[in-house]
Parts: sequence; C-alpha cells; structure tokens
Amino acid sequence: MIADRDYFLIELAAGKKANDSFADGQDLYLEIGSGKGEFISRYPISHLTWNFIGMEMNEKRIRVCLKKLSVESNPNVRLLRARADAGIAEYFRPESLSGVFIQHPDPWPKRRHHRRRLFQEDFLTALAGIMKPAAQVQISTDHADYAAWIVNEFSKSPHFLCLQDDPIQGHANLDEHVVTWFEQEQRRLGYPPNFMLYKRI
Ligand SMILES: C[S@@+](CC[C@H](N)C(=O)[O-])C[C@H]1O[C@@H](n2cnc3c(N)ncnc32)[C@H](O)[C@@H]1O
Repeated sequence: MIADRDYFLIELAAGKKANDSFADGQDLYLEIGSGKGEFISRYPISHLTWNFIGMEMNEKRIRVCLKKLSVESNPNVRLLRARADAGIAEYFRPESLSGVFIQHPDPWPKRRHHRRRLFQEDFLTALAGIMKPAAQVQISTDHADYAAWIVNEFSKSPHFLCLQDDPIQGHANLDEHVVTWFEQEQRRLGYPPNFMLYKRI
C-alpha cells in the first residue's frame, strides 16, 4: 500500500521549519539518508513518544520509503526531501534535535570526490547548531577509509565528544539496531559496518 504522501512529506512554507510538522512537542530525532526506509519505518514504532524526520535527497528513495510507512504504524514519522550539507540549519530550529542517525552515508571513495563527503567541518558546525546539548549522533559505515575520515573530522570539531573508548567499533551502539538494506548487502560482500557515536557538547 502506498502511504499518504501528503501526510508524510514535509512541504516547507516560508518561515516554517521541519520541526513545525509536529505539534505535540515530543523530542525530535533526525535520520540523514533514509535510503529504502528500513530505519525510518521500523525504529520509530518502538519509540512512539519521540518524533522522527527522515531526510533523503533522492526522490526515488523517498517513494520507496513512503511504501514502507503507514499512518497507523508511523504517526511519529515525516520525510524531508532535501540534501543535508552545511545548509542543514535552514531546515531546523537551533538546538532542537535530540539525536541524529546516519547509516551508511555515501563514501565517495575516489580522492578527487572526497570534498563531496557529508562529514566536513562546516557540516559538523551546522549540525551542532541544530542539536540539543548532549544529543548524540550515531553513525555506521562499511567503508573503513570513510570511518577513519569521519573520526578525524569529529576529532577536529570543538562541538562533539567521542563516546566510545575505541572511536570505531564493530558492534552497534543501539540495542535495537536496525539492519538496513545497504548494511545487509555490504555484510554479504564481506564488509561489516563500523559504528561511531558522538555527543554534542
Ligand atoms: C548508501 S545509501 C544508505 C541508505 C540507508 N541509510 C541504508 O543504510 O541502507 C545513502 C543514502 O543517502 C542518501 N544521501 C546521500 N547523501 C545525502 C545527503 N547529503 N542528504 C540527504 N540524503 C543523502 C542517498 O540518496 C541514499 O539514499
């Protein structure tokens, strides 16, 4: 069943922020790069007292996410079709996010494409600005080089603290870790995820 696009998809009117999609004042969590929607359709079901926004830049992926959502099971979910980058603060109110999830961000493996990677100094500064103090960012990537890059970017940021003894761990920080389509595929090919966890100072 195709879910109600109008219900789930955020259309930002002038002066509005994505936060305004929910009127109930519940804590708001963000997933960046929702892909085929496994996390954004499943994790919020066991956290109905929190709200979730899945931010995904690809229209086809948004449509796949919509097929997995239903108003009955996912009243606390919305989707934002937008690209996350250093401009992310235009979509959210300052210090308004209680947590951020990013599973398998595009690794852009070629050196000449590294500047396209999501994790850059200006993105981390903007992300910190929309997160509540002590809110956490949970990240996973199967790409070892990108994992090291991400750790290095966070280590340079004055806004975040690593919450793991080993910044890159082989097991998920979440009790209810949702294995996404991409994680499953990469595991099958012999590339298990690396998990990282940071706190907004
Ligand atoms: C490798 S897939 C991973 C999808 C999903 N998280 C998973 O684990 O299966 C990366 C996804 O992030 C989306 N994406 C990449 N860069 C993005 C950005 N800057 N902002 C929003 N979405 C992005 C892509 O369109 C794609 O759906």
